[in-house]
Parts: sequence; structure tokens; C-alpha cells
Amino acid sequence: MTAFPVRRLRRLRQSPALRRLVAEHDLTPRRLVLPVFVKEGIDAAQPIASMPGVSQHPLAAVPGLVEEAVAAGIGGIMLFGVPAVRDAVGSGATDPDGILNRAIALAAEASAGRLTVQADLCLDEFTDHGHCGVLAADGTVDNDTTLEIYARMALAQADAGADILGLSGMMDGQVAACRAALDAAGYGTTRRDVVILAYSAKYASAFYGPFRDAVESTLTGDRRTYQLDAANGREGVQEALVDIDEGADIVMVKPAGPYLDVLSEVAALSPVPVWAYQVSGEYAMIEHAAAAGVIDRDRAIGESLLGIRRAGAEAILTYWAIEVAGWLNEGRSLA
Ligand code: PBG
Repeated sequence: MTAFPVRRLRRLRQSPALRRLVAEHDLTPRRLVLPVFVKEGIDAAQPIASMPGVSQHPLAAVPGLVEEAVAAGIGGIMLFGVPAVRDAVGSGATDPDGILNRAIALAAEASAGRLTVQADLCLDEFTDHGHCGVLAADGTVDNDTTLEIYARMALAQADAGADILGLSGMMDGQVAACRAALDAAGYGTTRRDVVILAYSAKYASAFYGPFRDAVESTLTGDRRTYQLDAANGREGVQEALVDIDEGADIVMVKPAGPYLDVLSEVAALSPVPVWAYQVSGEYAMIEHAAAAGVIDRDRAIGESLLGIRRAGAEAILTYWAIEVAGWLNEGRSLA
């Protein structure tokens, strides 16, 4: 008598129609958010060499980018500013005429509520030393003085019209400080409400490499005294729980691909939405490998995003947001 396999798991994989029917996870354009770099003082888009396909954009391009994002049906855009001048305390971040705040205002006007306008809330693009906060006399990043600046930055971004503030500086207490400033200014009571997205579990990562080019930041030292250590999983979960306790409306894990375990644990525990940021290095790895002919670009992109989704991200910040939304709108599967 032949010993048949008792369980035939290939049964559900036999045809595209069956595979499509039983797929557990998929993506929809609304779950994608496009990071956008807006640079002060340029007239035309400037390609970022380390991120093929991604550019720095002039301020005047913002309304057009918003239209493109709305047409693609994505959930939002995350704005980053590249200022012409930087200083020790990141003055450009709190100035209503600073490049990021002007970009927010233009995007909010163009969007008119059709998608969410999100802004990175951090000082590294605005400081001449490239750190995410201001420095104490001994050269360390001064947590509590930085919180005061973040609170002012939160108000500047809210005043400019941002729907969601992306707190990415990894200072202790940043969510509470920004929420208190927004509350005190009447956001949520006498004025419209503003959402706090906490980049809660943000690891000190080599995968931010190309981003430094994108925002032209030259960091002296490293960020290991405030961003998380790649060796630690529990700490990432704790960061998310603390941020939720401080009033974060959404929490995020970043980078995404190398930290899917943290993402999955945060997704299991979090009572608030959980997002992930597929960062510049994750983007560049696939683009450069595909350009070298060693992987199938589109399938690798789809697989990387499905992995992040499967681990529990409800929305994903990705530089492929518009392109992938286009595929999804055509009915293409990502797997
Ligand atoms: C902080 C910030 C960074 C990124 C997003 N927000 C850089 C950093 O913390 O070093 C990285 C995003 C990417 O690499 O795509 N402003």
C-alpha cells in the first residue's frame, strides 16, 4: 500500500484563482504613505544619487505632488524639509517661513482634505551638527531643552496645516511635550485636532544612509544615545507602550524589514494603529540590486511590502507608494 501524504498543502496553491482567493494579506493604496523631500531654493527636481527614482523637489512642485498622490489614492504624504541654512538650534524648524512649514501649508491647501498631510518633526534636517536635538555644553544631546523646541515645532507645523505630526527625534517625553503644547494652544478644542504619529521604535540604523543624502545632513558622531540598539527587541515594545501612554495616536516601527519581529510584537500589544517605515536603505538595496540584474525588482518590492504588512503594519511609509498604488489600482498582485 502506498503511503499517501495525509495533508496536501499544495491543494490551495494549484491555480492563480485559488491563490488569489486564499491570500491572507494584501495592500490597498490607502495604506501607503509617500515621503517627500522639499528643498529650499531650487527651481527643478534634483535626483538623489543614492536613491534612484527619488528626487528633492522645489516648493512649487508640492501642489502637483499632492495631486499625483490623490490620484493614486494613497493615504498621505510625509513631508521633509531641506533648508538652505542650518544652525546649532535648528531655527528653521520653528520659523513659519521655514521650508518645511511652507511646504506643509502648500500641501494642506492643495489637499483640501483629500489626503493626510504629515510632517517629520525632528531637528536633524535643521541643525548644523546634524543631531536630532540641541547639544549641551558637554556635546551630548540635551533631552529636555530639545523638548521645548519640539513643542514649538509642533505648534508651527499645526499652524501651517499639518494633519499628522511624525515625531521622529527619539527624545524621552516628546509625545507628552508636543501633546501638551497642542492642547494648550486649543488644538482639539477651540481649533481642529492634530494627530500625533510617534516613531516609537526607531533604531540606530545603517539603513538611513541614503536619507542623509536626501536631506544633505552631515552628522558629527552617531545617534546611538537616543535611537535604539539593534540588539534589543523588548526596548522597542516598551518605547511604543510609553508613547501610547503619553498620548500617541499612532505608533511606528522603523526601519521595517530588519525589525519585523518588533513590528509584530508591537502590533500584538498596541491598542492604537501601528505603522512601519520602509526606509531609504531598504529602498536603495532593492533598486541597486535590481539595477545590477540580480533580483526581479517589482516582485522584490511587492514581497518586501507584503512582509511588512504580514508582520502587522496597518500603513507603510515607502518611497514606492505612488508606483505600488498604481499597480494595485490596475489589479496587479504583489506576490
Ligand atoms: C529624522 C528622520 C530620519 C529618517 C526619517 N526621519 C533620519 C534619522 O533619524 O537618522 C530616515 C528615513 C529614511 O532613511 O528613509 N528626521
